Amino acid sequence: MRVPWLATVLLLFRRALASSINITIDDQKGDPTNGQKFIYDPPDAWASDSIDGCDGCLQPNLSTASAETFTGSLFSAHKHHNPSPPTAAVNFTGAEALLDSYIHLSGGSDMSFSIDGILADTFQHTPTGLGGFESRSVFNSQRLSPGEHTLVISNGVVDGPNSLVILDSVVYS
Ligand SMILES: *[C@@H]1O[C@H](CO)[C@@H](O)[C@H](O)[C@H]1NC(C)=O
Ligand SMILES: *[C@@H]1O[C@H](CO)[C@@H](O)[C@H](O)[C@H]1NC(C)=O
Ligand SMILES: *[C@@H]1O[C@H](CO)[C@@H](O)[C@H](O)[C@H]1NC(C)=O
Repeated sequence: MRVPWLATVLLLFRRALASSINITIDDQKGDPTNGQKFIYDPPDAWASDSIDGCDGCLQPNLSTASAETFTGSLFSAHKHHNPSPPTAAVNFTGAEALLDSYIHLSGGSDMSFSIDGILADTFQHTPTGLGGFESRSVFNSQRLSPGEHTLVISNGVVDGPNSLVILDSVVYS
């Protein structure tokens, strides 16, 4: 004999559980649930566990990073022949995403974030006299319709100042 209400209760329970689970997409290891990784474009504008375009720069302490990895990029309009901002894109299936990155306190950052092709927010950091790095949540998508979404992070703006982005992870639920 079937027990329809039980199936319904189980389904609702599973949904409630799923929506309360936070999944971390590491900047290099990707999404543990489906193996999807960030797509870095152009790939040679980003470096693993280092900051592309910034040889000799100080770096965040790797052992504090999610999965002990980060991916860095320095956008410098003067240095690049093709001054379009480097991007990092990632897909997730859920209803909210947060982006964790490192801020270099004495360096500038100018990031923009789009969800499904629409500009959602920006984050600017103005260099302070202080040294060192700070781990920060720089983007919160707020509540989205549940489903598949694409987050794109852009480093810098055309003709803008130098911009440093050091990605650590995206957490979605
Ligand atoms: C990096 O962080 C770890 C854990 O917090 C700490 O033990 C270590 O001393 C740090 N290394 C440096 C070079 O600051
Ligand atoms: C996201 O998914 C779409 C459709 O499957 C795919 O075309 C695109 O390359 C994916 N993007 C990333 C960053 O994985
Ligand atoms: C993850 O969990 C925390 C509570 O631990 C919650 O505040 C947050 O909204 C959750 N979702 C994301 C996407 O981080």
